[in-house]
Amino acid sequence: MGVRVRVGGWVHRTRNLGGLVFVDLRDRAGLLQVSFAPGVATAEALAVAERLTPETVILVEGEVVARPPEGRNPELESGAVELRATSARVVGPAQVPAIPVARGKGEKLAAEELRLKYRVLDLRRPELQANLVMRHRLLQRARATMSGLGFLEIETPILTKPTPEGARDFLVPSRVHRGEFYALPQSPQIYKQLLMVAGYDRYFQIARCFRDEDLRADRQLEFTQIDLEASFVSAQDVQDVVEEVLVALWDEGGHTIPRPFPRLTWREAMERFGVDKPDLRFGVEIEDLTARVGGDAAPFVSEALAVGGRVRGLRVPHGADASRKEIDGYTAAAKDAKAGGLIWAKRTAAGWEGQGVKAIGASALDAVESAEGDLLLAVVGKDEITSPALHAVRTLVVRRPGIPQLAEHAFCWVVDFPLFEHDPETGAHVPAHHPFTSPHAEDFPFLESDPGRCRAQHYDAVYNGNELGSGSIRITDPAVQGLIFRLLGIDADDQQRRFGFLLDGLAAGAPPHGGFALGFDRIAMLLAGAPSLRDVIAFPKTTAARALFEGAPTPVKAADLQALHLSITD
Ligand code: AMO
Repeated sequence: MGVRVRVGGWVHRTRNLGGLVFVDLRDRAGLLQVSFAPGVATAEALAVAERLTPETVILVEGEVVARPPEGRNPELESGAVELRATSARVVGPAQVPAIPVARGKGEKLAAEELRLKYRVLDLRRPELQANLVMRHRLLQRARATMSGLGFLEIETPILTKPTPEGARDFLVPSRVHRGEFYALPQSPQIYKQLLMVAGYDRYFQIARCFRDEDLRADRQLEFTQIDLEASFVSAQDVQDVVEEVLVALWDEGGHTIPRPFPRLTWREAMERFGVDKPDLRFGVEIEDLTARVGGDAAPFVSEALAVGGRVRGLRVPHGADASRKEIDGYTAAAKDAKAGGLIWAKRTAAGWEGQGVKAIGASALDAVESAEGDLLLAVVGKDEITSPALHAVRTLVVRRPGIPQLAEHAFCWVVDFPLFEHDPETGAHVPAHHPFTSPHAEDFPFLESDPGRCRAQHYDAVYNGNELGSGSIRITDPAVQGLIFRLLGIDADDQQRRFGFLLDGLAAGAPPHGGFALGFDRIAMLLAGAPSLRDVIAFPKTTAARALFEGAPTPVKAADLQALHLSITD
């Protein structure tokens, strides 16, 4: 107390009590109350204080003093003191801000479009500052953890050759080489594998990735991965490293996470939860009722079963109090996920009631392990219908007050994904992830005869129903890599043209290796409790793929296009 200081910051708010002026001064550490009192502040300082407008930058000198008890503000870290100004000057005048930075209690935020346009002002908001501080701390912790585990941070190029990760590439035209293009990396995947071949047996990178894909709240055109790769490792070794990083990051967020994370195969996840990123905070699971369906089922159910469909359902404890409107909501969710409808039945004192009794028959319902007051929600059809529909319904159902939450933070591994997916439009096989993932050794014999049954040595880290990251053990035999490319419809010439540098690398003495990439923005969003990636990225893009603040993308001058040997067609 009584210390003389000089501080600088932004004018958050002012209150003029007729000669005595209070200014809340803000910087990234928070707010400080500054008083300008006649007799203490110089006449010039008082005149400055009286004219201050929000967001002006000022320098103030004065003395830090204790506030009288009745003047203390317990909500402010500096609420027990104030700065009694002696002198002050404006160093950064500010126009009237387009969106308010200081908000009254309960005052709503400006529309997000506006906030993204005036991002510099919005970034002054304490919530966004806290998010970016959190992001910084998480990055430092990730780096320290990886480095502590013996991983080397190595940067890989941004102007690259296309690396397929399932999205469209951003292309950069070469000025020097007419008609040729660089691609921005969708991930450092091939480079990190080549680093393993080159003998850098533990690599990591805080890697910026670029994918021209449709944006959602959890997707951006450019985003950051904590990317890693290691040689002479098993899938378990890689998962151990990733668990260590995740536990450290959640610790940075103030949460203690038990290890090891539970592990489910992809098949098990789809069977029990209908999705490959199950939310294990809740115990409600999908049950297969097919075997219990008897002759009393409705024709549409028997017909679906006859062509390979199943009846699968969710038993909702204490769900029988659900209103018609609530059940309509579940039905709409199932239909949005392409199911024909939702079957439901309530278990009352008198037995099962509801349209489900007619649909799947009393015998099937009686066989369900249940208690009075339960609700059964079921879907009939092929797994590709019932799984997404029941996942959608489960996502809503677990929000019911009667559903116990088993954990606040539920991590798990989902392993053994299928190696290929079938593109229903083209009929072609596409890699379920990227084409460098190794199949399971026991599935090698089926690669050509029955690719659909081959499992990948691929694993995803899942948290509360969110995919945090994915990785795999890689193919190291160039012949196997060539075979996979061929199965994906990439002929020998194309393989050489697109991936020759990888195939040559693998032929140059490749150690067994595997790795992983965590979506860092998603982690920062979840740990900051933010609803969107845009809240943890300083200058994000909108879902319409625009940077509203700087105004990108933009048209370019004809001369610039010409220098790049490009022209725009209609
Ligand atoms: P994958 O493509 O699964 O794997 O990406 C890893 C993680 O990155 C995050 N992510 C995104 N985050 C924000 N916006 C996006 N558009 C976006 N796309 C992906 C997700 C995802 O889980 N090279 C492989 C990893 C490997 O095999 O080592 C890869 O990139 O959280």
